[in-house]
Amino acid sequence: MMMMMMVLLRIIIAVTLSLLLCLLTMHPPNFCTATEVRCIESERHALLNFKQGLLDPSNRLASWIAAPDVDCCHWVGVVCDNRTGHVLQVHLRTFYPLTNDHQWGAHYEAYERSRFRGKINPSLLDLKYLIYLDLSYSYFNYTQIPKFLGSMRSLRYLNLSNAGFGGLIPHQLGNLSDLHYLNLGGGYIQLDGLFSVYLWFDRVVAIRGFLFVELA
Ligand SMILES: *[C@@H]1O[C@H](CO)[C@@H](O)[C@H](O)[C@H]1NC(C)=O
Ligand SMILES: *[C@@H]1O[C@H](CO)[C@@H](O)[C@H](O)[C@H]1NC(C)=O
Ligand SMILES: *[C@@H]1O[C@H](CO)[C@@H](O)[C@H](O)[C@H]1NC(C)=O
Ligand SMILES: *[C@@H]1O[C@H](CO)[C@@H](O)[C@H](O)[C@H]1NC(C)=O
Repeated sequence: MMMMMMVLLRIIIAVTLSLLLCLLTMHPPNFCTATEVRCIESERHALLNFKQGLLDPSNRLASWIAAPDVDCCHWVGVVCDNRTGHVLQVHLRTFYPLTNDHQWGAHYEAYERSRFRGKINPSLLDLKYLIYLDLSYSYFNYTQIPKFLGSMRSLRYLNLSNAGFGGLIPHQLGNLSDLHYLNLGGGYIQLDGLFSVYLWFDRVVAIRGFLFVELA
């Protein structure tokens, strides 16, 4: 009985001390900050390079800055894994104005200004855990969808709807074997490119039965 009391007491003291340490130290050890993971340095660089390739006329990516102590997990549009700190999702959709009022013209101008343009930097390949990418309603000036997107093997959701791409759909997209959702709708994409992608979708749909595709 005495032994058990002693053990219990020791545990209580140990826990109390740990909590005190958590409260008192400026840089608490991991065990008390499990909820405060920060972004991975290489992924922060990848995002900054990606930003550099883009034209962002209305400065939507103002929070994406290169200061040493900023945490990219808190940047606009960025979602990290809250245990590992890896970037999981990038949400950079532009919203097309749906209001029908007399200010529609102004809304439309604001929309045009807020669309991302420029180039998609292959630095995105360094986001090895990225599962979600939404660049819908960007405006990539009729350029082809970058082939390297087909090498982002972790992607499960890719929304390039109305993103102003043109030309052939790169067959490399067929290599995204975890993809559940692909939206290439509303673009200027050439139809003969669709054929190879459809062939691949047939295969994927046959294998897993639940890929959702919007190509209209
Ligand atoms: C971590 O993420 C999971 C799943 O998204 C969520 O359920 C959980 O509440 C998050 N935990 C913290 C501490 O944010
Ligand atoms: C993909 O983007 C389009 C345009 O922004 C949007 O309407 C659609 O809902 C998106 N798809 C999903 C599944 O979020
Ligand atoms: C868009 O493409 C056209 C035709 O190729 C070119 O003249 C123009 O400079 C491009 N604009 C931008 C912003 O890259
Ligand atoms: C796509 O996958 C095939 C087979 O795994 C491979 O041979 C090819 O190099 C891959 N292409 C790209 C662009 O990753």
